[in-house]
Formats: sequence, structure tokens, C-alpha cells
Amino acid sequence: MLNVALPTGRMGDKSYAVFEEMGFGCAAFSQDDRKLVKVSDDGSVRYLLVKPSDVGIYVERGAADIGVVGKDVLLETSPDVYELADLKLGRCDLAIAGKNDFVEDEDAVLRVATKYENVTAAYYRSMGRDIDIIRLNGSIELAAYLGLADVIVDIVETGTTLRENGMRVFTYLHPSSARLIANKSSYKFLGAQIDRIAERMNSI
Ligand code: PRP
Repeated sequence: MLNVALPTGRMGDKSYAVFEEMGFGCAAFSQDDRKLVKVSDDGSVRYLLVKPSDVGIYVERGAADIGVVGKDVLLETSPDVYELADLKLGRCDLAIAGKNDFVEDEDAVLRVATKYENVTAAYYRSMGRDIDIIRLNGSIELAAYLGLADVIVDIVETGTTLRENGMRVFTYLHPSSARLIANKSSYKFLGAQIDRIAERMNSI
């Protein structure tokens, strides 16, 4: 049985639809329950429903053979896995944003609110800019809106959240979308099966 880690939430539902389309349908998937493990109707795939930021850990440690995770999360967490396919779902951009009228004081330490600490630290290090990272877990825009932070580093999808809060993108850092990842030893043993899935996904 192939263990597949899917992220909970919208990206998980959309990526499940891709697996369903490939013949790994699972009647239990759409049942409204709290089960975290669901087996496909043909018994060949076991879906593990995990928090998006944890998919890489499940796959790296072999609890899952493959998984679907956003490129933004991969950049932040850098799990030791193979990245095999782009599902072209959940497209967004990691970006630096702030209030429309923000003017940067180049002599002051820049306060940056984000849940992408590593991506943020690496970017500003490469720019030689001193920053103070304010680690938040959600509603990141609020930090800049209230003046708790000068700018934020977050994902922007439609741009609506920024727009509706008087903010805009200053710099685009990385495009992101859902990626298929694989555990390195699983790939040795199940390479042909995993490659078939990756090829189908890449051709969507
Ligand atoms: C994400 C992200 C932005 C928003 C961007 O938040 O953190 O806040 O979506 O989308 P938009 O450009 O289409 O407005 P999410 O909804 O995941 O919730 P969170 O703020 O709790 O992270």
C-alpha cells in the first residue's frame, strides 16, 4: 500500500481530486468525520491527512512514501526529500508587502512579521539588511496594519487581503504551487509506481 500524505484544507481537497482522477478514489475521503487515515476503494493507497506544514516531516521520515505540499512550505522547511512534480494547484507568491504609504528607513532595523522565518532571514541576509523577525502564525497582514511590523513576508494569492487592508506588494520573492514529494528510500523501492504518478501530475 502506498502511503500518501495530503495537507488538510483546500489544497488537500484539490490534490485528492487529482489522485481520484488517476484511479485512487476513496469514498471515505468526502465523509465528514475526523478520521486521519483513509484507504482508497481499491485498497492500494492510504491517505494520511496532516497539517500542511508537517507534510515534509512525514515524508522525510518515511511515515508517508509521497506527499503533496506547497512550494512555499518546502522553501521554508527544506525537508530531505525528492521533489517530483508540480500539480499547478494552489498557485500563489511569497512576497514582501506593507502599507501603501510605507517608506523604509534604511538606517533602522527593519521589523518583519512572518511565519516564513527561514525564507525571510535568508533573503534579507543576502541583501545585507538587518531585520527583526516577528514570528506569527496567521493574519500576518494585521501586524503591518497596526504598525507592529514595518513589512510582512507572506503568501499572496488574489491580493484581496492586502488590498482590503490598505497594503501592497513591494517585492515578489518566489512563486509557489503544490508539489509532489517523495521519501528517498521509498523512491528506491517504489520508483516505478511513484514515477507514474509524478508523470501524470506533470502532464496535467
Ligand atoms: C493566506 C495568507 C494571506 C491570504 C492571501 O492566509 O496568509 O493572509 O491567504 O490570500 P489573498 O491574496 O487571496 O487574499 P490564510 O487564509 O491561509 O489564513 P492565515 O492568515 O491564518 O494564514
